Formats: sequence, structure tokens, C-alpha cells
Amino acid sequence: MSFSGGLDEAAKHDVLTTIVVFGASGDLAKKKTYPALFHLFQQKLLPKRTRIIGYARTQMTTDDFNKRVTSFFKPSDPADEVAAFLEICEYVSGKYDVDEDFQRLREEIDTNEHAMNKRESDERVHIYYLALPPSVFVSVGTQIRNNVYDGTCTNRVVIEKPFGHDLDSSRKLSQAIGGLFAEDEIYRIDHYLGKEMVKNILALRFANVFYEAVWTRHYISNVQITFKEPFGTEGRGGYFDEFGIIRDVMQNHLLQVLSIVAMRQPKSLRSEDIRDCKTEVLRRILPIQLEDTLLGQYVGTRDGSKPGYKDDDTVPKDSITPTYAQCVLHVDNDRWRGVPWVIKAGKALDEAKMVIRIQFKDMPNALFPNLARNELVLQVSPKESVSIKTIVKEPGLSTNLAMSELDLSYHKRYQDLKIPDAYATLILDVLNGDHSNFVRSDELDEAWRIFTPLLHQIETEQIVPLPYEYGSRGPKGVDEFPTERAGYKPT
Ligand code: NDP
Ligand code: BG6
Repeated sequence: MSFSGGLDEAAKHDVLTTIVVFGASGDLAKKKTYPALFHLFQQKLLPKRTRIIGYARTQMTTDDFNKRVTSFFKPSDPADEVAAFLEICEYVSGKYDVDEDFQRLREEIDTNEHAMNKRESDERVHIYYLALPPSVFVSVGTQIRNNVYDGTCTNRVVIEKPFGHDLDSSRKLSQAIGGLFAEDEIYRIDHYLGKEMVKNILALRFANVFYEAVWTRHYISNVQITFKEPFGTEGRGGYFDEFGIIRDVMQNHLLQVLSIVAMRQPKSLRSEDIRDCKTEVLRRILPIQLEDTLLGQYVGTRDGSKPGYKDDDTVPKDSITPTYAQCVLHVDNDRWRGVPWVIKAGKALDEAKMVIRIQFKDMPNALFPNLARNELVLQVSPKESVSIKTIVKEPGLSTNLAMSELDLSYHKRYQDLKIPDAYATLILDVLNGDHSNFVRSDELDEAWRIFTPLLHQIETEQIVPLPYEYGSRGPKGVDEFPTERAGYKPT
């Protein structure tokens, strides 16, 4: 990771670069991968000599492929820039388990490299982006290893979540992938690590004397990390029902954020130092208890305008998969012992929001009794902001106190700034060989260790989630839970 102008290392060095997007016919490729690649191309952050090959089973003409991968580009994107980007893209159709198809792919890569004037002295990188369902990760990885992998260049394999279903399946997947590629060739994407405000946590904490000074159990009462979506699983019910909200969002995105908020200062900004500190803190988190958990599942609105989770045809009518959860976690180390961490996530709620709320302890103060608590609030989405709930004297003749905010809203403070999508940031990291914002296998193992006993208990005991109406704040008890279980005091 670099905070000092290291954003375009790969571009600067003119590395001869091939990016293969497996599953190029799919949803992620269309919505995220290609728009992110285009964004980097526009910003001149792709090395000058780059080719992007889409690979999938679907037969598509170049025209069909081009239409598909640009379907999520912005209408305002200049046509000449789009055309120039498509010049470096192509599509190869092939199966995921056929040697000859992957040998063809390798030939295509070689041909492209020659067309880009490959020289003996060139630094070369092959990036294999697996925008595929996990069921084919191992088959595709094996094919890459046997038929495409080039030991004379740098190889990087990008894998999308879900990385397994529980501790056991995750270990099996890690073992299988680890048998094919070295850990430093593997980039496990958790796109929350590419979000602006998540990346900002390190800077805030370790570049400002006053945050780090109070970043302990002596001053912090509780922390809440909240993810809310105003829509249900529309169209993704089949996938979601196998996973549920805990595996879909909490075990990965929210826990990753928690680990960055809770970790100690790393020795350096090198990726292994950062990941060592994240893993160290994860190791101290106790497995979550069922009694520290609130589960919900959304039902349709009373007026029938929005469907319930089980109204989705791809969801079994007797599904007890949670679409909402709150859990309390405890970090058992000297810095955090006694501070509850509440993570909350839900679909079909009243708003779109991802926010980290750090609530400080009561002010031990005889001068001003019964004060509301200070809070540091980091809003990750929809609009990035850092704010501190601060008590002031009510302005004017009044001598009362009032709660106010020190407010750093990015859209006001940095008006011309276009914050890049997390995927663009992360693909740039892959180009630069920077692992800081990717999940290491031991981190993943710890994440599953924390959640697996709870997930298994929910499944074996068939715990039925509480209903909540689509568009509401969540199931009964949603607001009381952080107060009762974590000592949160509404401000
Ligand atoms: P898709 O279901 O769209 O699959 C991608 C491509 O893989 C398809 O176009 C299809 O290509 C091929 N494919 C689909 N199902 C199978 C199958 N059973 N066997 C073999 N090939 C199959 O997935 P997404 O693009 O939505 O997701 C890709 C990865 O990214 C997944 O791991 C997902 O969990 C993850 N992800 C996706 C997000 C999203 O917003 N979509 C968000 C975060 C993560 P073809 O038939 O042409 O070969
Ligand atoms: C994905 C989950 O990983 O993250 C989705 O599978 C969720 O269910 C999405 O909607 C949220 O990402 P973002 O960037 O829109 O907050």
C-alpha cells in the first residue's frame, strides 16, 4: 500500500500486461470488472501495452461482446475513448475444463504479446480474473496451471468471494487453490477493502495524533458497523438462500472493516505488515454466540407493493435463511477487552447505508452532568463522510449545551473529486502487485473460525428468523439490541 504517489507503478514501468477475465459473459464482468478496467484505461493507469481477453463458454460475436461489456458504462463516456478501449479487448469462447480450449487461450496470449512487440527484456504480467461461480474455481485454476501458466512471467490470480461456505469448505478450497498457485500469486477480492472510506481508516488512525490517542477500551464504549440495503434479493434469491446475510456480507465485508478499525499500528505500509496486524486481531475475536445474535427475514409490505423474501420463485417457501442479522463480537486483547463490537447487516431495509459508529464513554464530569456521548462516525456509503458528534454551547445568548457535529462530508469538501469504484482501485492494486487490500488465507481462516459455530448452530437447530416488513428498520428489537447487548446510548 502506498500513500505517496505509488498509484500507477505498473503503468509507469510499461509492463507488458495481459488480463484474462474468466466469466466475461457474466453479471460481475458487465457491472464491475469491465467498467473498472475502462476507468483505469481512461485515467491512463493501464500499462501502455495491455490486452484484455474475455473468456467464457457462451458464443458471442465481437459486436455482442462489446455491447455486453459496455452496457454499464456511463452515457457520458466519450465514444472515441470507448472505441479505443475496445481495441485492446477481445473475446475467446471456451469451456472451463477442456485442455484444447485453454491451449488456444495461451496461443492467443502469445500472439497478442508478439503483436505488442514483446522483447526479451520485458517485464511481463498475466492476470487471471476469475469472475466465475466458485464451483468452477478449481477446474479453471487447474486449466490455467496446466495449459496457460507461464513460469517466465509474473502470474496473478484474482478470486471473487464466496471463498467457501464454512471453515471446512474454505480450507478445502484454499488447499486446492494453494496447490495450484503460490499465496503471493493469489488476490482474494473483498471489494469493501477498495472503498474510499475503508482505505481512509489507516490514514485517519495513524496519521492523526488525536484519534490513535483515544483508540482503546479506556475511551471507547462500543463500536457499531452497519450495512443497510433498501432492496431485497431480487433476482439473486437462488444464490442468496444458500448463503444468507451472515455469509454474504458479515463474514467478509463487515469483519474486514472491523479488523482494520481494531488492529494495532503495523510496522510499515507493506502489505504483509498490514495483513499480519489484521490477522492478529482476528485471532483474538471469540466465536460468536447465538444469544449475541438477532436474526430477521423480510416479508412483503402490507400494501403488497414489495415482495417478501419467500415470494421470490428461486427461494424455497420454507426458507429460514436470515436476510438480516446483528451480532456482538468481542476482541479479547488488552486494547479492546470489554468493548462490544456490533455488526449489523440487512436487505430490504429503510435506507442504503454503510457506516462505522465509534461511541466514546461517558464524560466523567461534575461540571456538566448527564451529557450525551461523543461519537466518531465514518460513513462509507452512500456518501463518504467523517463526522464527530461534539457537544457545544448552544450558540447565542443561551447557556445550554447542544449536540453538534464536526462534519467532513467529502461531496462538500472535495467537490470536483470523482471517487473511483472499489473495483477500479483493487484492479489497480493487482496491476501494481499490492496485496494490502486483499484477503490472505490465514485471515480467511480466522474469519470462518469466528462465524462457523454460529452458522452451524443456526442450521442444525433450525433457528427461525424474526419477520420484518420490506422497507422497515428491521425485526422487532432492532434498535434495543445495541443498547441492551453493547451498552450503546442513543445520542
Ligand atoms: P454469474 O452467475 O453471472 O456467472 C459468471 C459466468 O460464469 C456466467 O456468465 C457463465 O458464463 C459462467 N457460469 C455461470 N454459472 C456457471 C456454472 N454453474 N458452471 C460453469 N460456469 C458458469 O456470476 P457473477 O458474474 O454474478 O459472479 C461471479 C463471481 O463474482 C461469483 O463468485 C460471485 O459470487 C462474485 N460476486 C458477484 C457480484 C455481482 O454483483 N454479480 C458481487 C460480488 C461478488 P458462461 O456460461 O458463458 O461460461
Ligand atoms: C456483495 C454482496 O458482496 O456486496 C451483495 O454479495 C451486496 O449482496 C453487495 O449487495 C454490496 O456491495 P456495495 O458495494 O453495493 O455496498
